Amino acid sequence: MSSNPRQLFVTTALPYANGNFHIGHIMEYIQADIWVRFQRMQGNAVNFVGADDTHGAPIMIAAEKAGKTPQQFVADIAAGRKQYLDGFHISFDNWHSTDAPENHELARQIYRDLRDRTDGSLIETKTIEQFFDPEKNMFLPDRYIKGECPKCHAKDQYGDNCENCGAVYAPTDLINPVSTLSGAKPELKNSEHFFFKLSDPRCVEFLEKWTQDGKLQPEVANKVKEWFSVRTNPDGSTSEGLGDWDISRDAPYFGIEIPDAPGKYFYVWLDAPIGYLASLKNLLEKRGENYDAYMANPAVEQYHFIGKDIVTFHTLFFPACLHFSGRKTPTNVFVHGFLTVNNGEKMSKSRGTGLDPLKYLSLGMNPEWLRYYLAAKLSARNEDIDFNADDFLARVNSDLVGKYINIASRAAGFLAKKFDHKLGVITEDGQQLLKLISAQKDNMQELYESRDFGKVLRETMLLADKVNVYVDANKPWELAKKEGMDARLHDVCTVCIEAFRLLTIYLKPVLPQLAYGVETFLKTKPFESSDAATQLGAEHSIGDYVHLMQRVDVKQLDALFEVPNEPLAGIDTAKTAIKSVASAPVAQSSSATIGIDDFAKVDLRIAKIVHCEAVEGSTKLLRLTLDVGEVDDAGQAKTRNVFSGIASSYKPADLLGKHTVMVANLAPRKMKFGMSEGMVLAASAADEKAQPGIYILEPMPGAQPGMRVS
Ligand code: 2FM
Ligand code: ZN
Repeated sequence: MSSNPRQLFVTTALPYANGNFHIGHIMEYIQADIWVRFQRMQGNAVNFVGADDTHGAPIMIAAEKAGKTPQQFVADIAAGRKQYLDGFHISFDNWHSTDAPENHELARQIYRDLRDRTDGSLIETKTIEQFFDPEKNMFLPDRYIKGECPKCHAKDQYGDNCENCGAVYAPTDLINPVSTLSGAKPELKNSEHFFFKLSDPRCVEFLEKWTQDGKLQPEVANKVKEWFSVRTNPDGSTSEGLGDWDISRDAPYFGIEIPDAPGKYFYVWLDAPIGYLASLKNLLEKRGENYDAYMANPAVEQYHFIGKDIVTFHTLFFPACLHFSGRKTPTNVFVHGFLTVNNGEKMSKSRGTGLDPLKYLSLGMNPEWLRYYLAAKLSARNEDIDFNADDFLARVNSDLVGKYINIASRAAGFLAKKFDHKLGVITEDGQQLLKLISAQKDNMQELYESRDFGKVLRETMLLADKVNVYVDANKPWELAKKEGMDARLHDVCTVCIEAFRLLTIYLKPVLPQLAYGVETFLKTKPFESSDAATQLGAEHSIGDYVHLMQRVDVKQLDALFEVPNEPLAGIDTAKTAIKSVASAPVAQSSSATIGIDDFAKVDLRIAKIVHCEAVEGSTKLLRLTLDVGEVDDAGQAKTRNVFSGIASSYKPADLLGKHTVMVANLAPRKMKFGMSEGMVLAASAADEKAQPGIYILEPMPGAQPGMRVS
């Protein structure tokens, strides 16, 4: 253990509480977790915390759509977090919420401290003109306004920029603006907003120093530098350095009320990073420790792992809020790039296409394969990385299992059978090999400290190569057959086990569960970094070898990226669903029973039929537009298009406005008439000829779009 342990406070970005984790979140948590586990192995004291980012208009609107209070909505999301965090061995000390009392108190106090500065307030109010939805009775964020682009006249463009011509404008410039929440024509209304005076010379001077003193990654510091200067942008517009930051939103808003300003709330990005502090405070108080004393300790280092899309908030707004409210500022902010999958698109905040973390786990894939693979790709730089299935298979099977795990499996059997599980005496050549591995200890520690995990793994695999060369040169399997070679066999197998132990120490932050298996197998205490300078020594007894890690089966990868289910839509598929629902009472002996886990894979949701029409060219199909309580990346209501073979039983007008049940996680299917994005449930007799008729399922009154059916 270090005699003078460092005190570290570490966080990852707080995920919005409006959806499950996707692989991009998991990558960030794995990156931070590796660093944290390394620090703990060094003997340092780490508080590693996370929380849900709960506030803001999109979450408020999603909750309303789901028929829940925002509090209930975010609590339901929070309940789903543990399975991911435990599943991928993420060792947070605490998971909290930005809606928790600690955050309300801290955010309000930080605001008061900024407002009440004796050298001049850093808060000011300005009246701004903003669009207001007269039906919803609320001011509209830009993303909830659509209209015609003032430049190219493309219809249906968002309030801040045009996807067609790329023009950037104010929502008030849109032609025929419409509220996407109600369809109403928005009205311009004045409102008093609160601003944090980021353009104040005190802030500018502080931030220029804080961001350019060498702590940030060079590529990040360079980007941030641009934001201070007055310049002309490529599109001809001018940027004027740091502008004041609008930190308030009007009711109705799910957030924290601003002190002495009834009906005004902090913009979500004001209180979100304060949520880091709130989660830490909650953790410390649960332990009976004092938050103020901890934060007042100048030795405490504070680190935030974040993605490259949220650098402004973490390098300008947050440090300025902390500094000018008299608080400690972050020691550093570690920025990573985006993750793409199989050269595909970036993992979006709300969507995470491609690699579903829960599916990965449910297929029985080892979470430490993913930790290893991502670590192998990660460096200290802010650059994008790609998950590639073939590369994953090769790195795990050839490197991790082929080079490293095999070292133990090649030696352990002989030690158990021939030497009563005891290690022997190591001669000169073996000692040289072990010294060479131990000599990398400081280098490995530096690489971990600087988050160059890819290099740690490359260097560890080079060492594993050297051990395998030693094994191949000494051929223990031949020594075992030769008379009088037992001492050498004992020596060689002991070297393998000692080397395997050293390599495991280097890998432990990345592969904690595997390392635990090795500690158990070798009958040792938990490995610390300093153990890489030691050996177990002759006479140490080890346990029986149990296989420590399987290889990836290519079928698992195929299943991981396979479209989830047999696509179902239209008349045939509707009937399939009908049979599975309606024929239950006559339970065909051929229907295999399923476990609750299988059932849970089917995401059944209440859907509202917001539009229904006949399909030209088909006598069987109706086209349904379904509201399943979903919002898109921009937080805007999103509907699904589903073709259903029910035209023989229903006219469009029969169904309009009705609620039904849909299978929401069916793979979309391209049909002759367009994409079908799910399936509605309906009943029919087992013998449809004798007893025709299809009956759409309808829930009892009160069910809301998006509610889960279970
Ligand atoms: O971009 C996001 O997903 C935000 N929810 C991150 C917040 S990080 C911190 F500031 F809370
Ligand atoms: Zn345009």
